[in-house]
This record gives sequence, structure tokens and C-alpha cells, in this order.
Amino acid sequence: MLRQHLEMRAQAHAGLRSEPLGPLDVAVHYAYVLDTTAELSDRLATTLDASERARAARFHFAQDRTHYIAAHSLLRSCLSQIAGSRDWRFTIDRFGKPEIEPPIDEPPLRFSLSHSHGIVACAIARGFPVGIDVETVGYDLPFMEIARNYFSEREYEALLAIERTKRAESFHRIWTLKEALVKAIGLGLSLPLKEFSFDVDPPTLTISPHIDEDVAAWQVVAHAPTIRHHIALAIRRPQTCSLAVSWYEVKLSLLGAPSSEQVHQQPPD
Ligand SMILES: CC(C)(COP(=O)(O)OP(=O)(O)OC[C@H]1O[C@@H](n2cnc3c(N)ncnc32)[C@H](O)[C@@H]1OP(=O)(O)O)[C@@H](O)C(=O)NCCC(=O)NCCS
Repeated sequence: MLRQHLEMRAQAHAGLRSEPLGPLDVAVHYAYVLDTTAELSDRLATTLDASERARAARFHFAQDRTHYIAAHSLLRSCLSQIAGSRDWRFTIDRFGKPEIEPPIDEPPLRFSLSHSHGIVACAIARGFPVGIDVETVGYDLPFMEIARNYFSEREYEALLAIERTKRAESFHRIWTLKEALVKAIGLGLSLPLKEFSFDVDPPTLTISPHIDEDVAAWQVVAHAPTIRHHIALAIRRPQTCSLAVSWYEVKLSLLGAPSSEQVHQQPPD
């Protein structure tokens, strides 16, 4: 009991959600990665299972390995904070979408994970399919070319219409929204990207009749924790309800580590 209490306090100290996750809640946690030392990465890797550690070991670049470890360790900490510590196991469907196996709770916890240069994020909801994408703005990307190839005509035209200096940011906002939807639906890139469109301010979805999705069922939310980082979330829920989305910035260095406050204080058991 005391140990559990200490663990909960330590995780909340790291920035994890400390309230229970209700049926209409979505918790989004994100963490910056670039100052992650090799020592911290090794410590976080101890929270992964053998297959995740094996996958981490296969990355050629240390930076990719660090992002992978950070994202999966963050996910495990968030799930344990919400549903209690356990030996989390995952299954991957034929499109690559991961789910918790066996399902936990009813309605079952669902999640989505994303990593980009310098930042990782995960979203957790109960029952509803959820997709998250995070991107770091790359000003040197050939983004108009990418937009011409992957965005709908409407999105491309909207980008062309805005001032050049603002295009990179708008491109990433649209990109994250599209990716979040793709990940929530879970069909990967077999979903035709030009057949749905986002307006960014506020995020609004339009879906062509060629895709069998009810646009009213989608709640889409965007958040830019800094001017360089964009996070988007897409959730399919009953049309009649609006979900409460909360955002948490997590300090990776404090994940799983006893806080100095705890070291010096004994909470009541
Ligand atoms: C599979 C895909 C979701 C990967 O997205 P990404 O932006 O490259 O990478 P992210 O870091 O955001 O997401 C990767 C995570 O998504 C999850 N994922 C993989 N396949 C998935 C799927 N079919 N559905 C939902 N989630 C999936 C995994 O958890 C993966 O992390 P992991 O490999 O560490 O477990 C897919 O959308 C993709 O390949 N996109 C390529 C980019 C592109 O062309 N985008 C066009 C948008 S306009």
C-alpha cells in the first residue's frame, strides 16, 4: 500500500495524470526527448518488455533508439498510472495498429503512440478508437511538394493561399491532423489521404463520400505546446457526446524515479 502510494506520487510528480480516467476522458501525455542521456535511456529501457528491447536494439541510430524507448516507456508509465501497474502486453493487427492484449477494463483502454524529432506522445481513452500524431516543424522540408502529393486539393489550395512564411506551420498542422485520423481508423496508408480534408482553425474535418466514415462521429483536437511542436488527436465517439481532452507534459527523467519530495517525506499509509 505504501509502496503503491509512493509510486503514484512519483509518477504524478513526473507530470502524469493523477485523476482517474473517466469514460468520457482522453489523456494525452507528451515528453521532450532531445536532452535524454544514454543513462536515462538505459533506465527507461528497463521498463520495456523483451520484444521492445530487441526492437530498440535494432535501430541503427542512437537517436531513433532513444525516441522509441522514450515513447514506449512513456506509454507504459501512463497506462500503469491509469489502470495500475502490470505487465503490459500488446498485439499488432495486420495494418500495424497496436492494442492492449488482453484487453484491460470495460470499456477497454485504447491508445495511440507517436514520435517525432525531439518529442514523443501518447493518447489513452476508454473504448473509443483514438489516433495521435506529433510532429516537429521542419522548415527545410519540401512541404509544398509533399502537400501536392498527399493532401486533398482543398488542403493544398488553402496552403497556397496563405503567406509563404506561415506555410510550414500550417502544413504541419494539417499533416498531424491527417495522421491522427489515419491512426485512429487504423488502416494505415491504405486510407486514401486525398479523400478527407482538414481546415485548421479550428480543426474541422470533411470526408468525401468515397470513405465510409461518418464525419459527425469524429472529434479532432490540435495542440501546439511550442511553436515548433504540433500534436493532433482524432477520436471516433458517439455523435451525442463530447470528450474531455487533457494534455500533460511529462519529464522523462522523473519517470519511475522517486521524487526528492518523497525521499524526504513519509506519506500516511
Ligand atoms: C503507420 C503510420 C501511422 C506511421 O506514422 P508515422 O508518422 O510515421 O509515425 P508515428 O511515430 O506518428 O507513429 C508510429 C506509431 O504508430 C503506431 N502504428 C503503427 N501502425 C499503425 C496503424 N496502422 N494504425 C495506428 N497506429 C499505428 C505504432 O505504435 C507506431 O509506433 P511504434 O512502431 O513505436 O510502436 C502511418 O500513418 C504512416 O506510415 N505514415 C507515413 C507518413 C505519411 O505518408 N503520412 C501522410 C499523412 S498526410
